[in-house]
Amino acid sequence: MRIETERLLAWTATVCRDEIGWAIDPARWGEGLATEAAAAAPRDTFERVRLERVVSFTSLANIASTRVMERLGLERGGTTEWAGSEHVWYTVSAQREHVSD
Ligand SMILES: CC(C)(COP(=O)(O)OP(=O)(O)OC[C@H]1O[C@@H](n2cnc3c(N)ncnc32)[C@H](O)[C@@H]1OP(=O)(O)O)[C@@H](O)C(=O)NCCC(=O)NCCS
Repeated sequence: MRIETERLLAWTATVCRDEIGWAIDPARWGEGLATEAAAAAPRDTFERVRLERVVSFTSLANIASTRVMERLGLERGGTTEWAGSEHVWYTVSAQREHVSD
């Protein structure tokens, strides 16, 4: 993750036990920062937090977040209704992450 002056540009985290998510300063959208910041999230979750799989989900309309999931190598799991709108979820297992080493 790149850091500029004292301002947080990118946030990634493992939340809700097995979910990874991200948010970027709107002034810096489209520069590849989310992909860069989130790149280590799946492996970190498997190696440090010791989960067997991680999931990520977003609104079907959120193309940028969906692209980040795909660029991280997550596989599309399906769609689900959440908070009144259709969402898509992606997942990757620790086993698959290690197989692709
Ligand atoms: C989703 C979010 C983190 C993406 O951050 P970002 O730094 O702009 O993403 P990147 O620059 O790494 O781009 C990732 C991909 O999304 C695409 N993308 C970026 N903005 C886009 C937009 N507005 N519409 C369509 N695609 C977009 C990029 O072209 C790139 O696609 P590529 O892999 O084909 O090149 C950012 O838009 C954000 O913080 N949104 C608000 C919070 C949010 O929605 N978080 C996800 C909640 S589940």
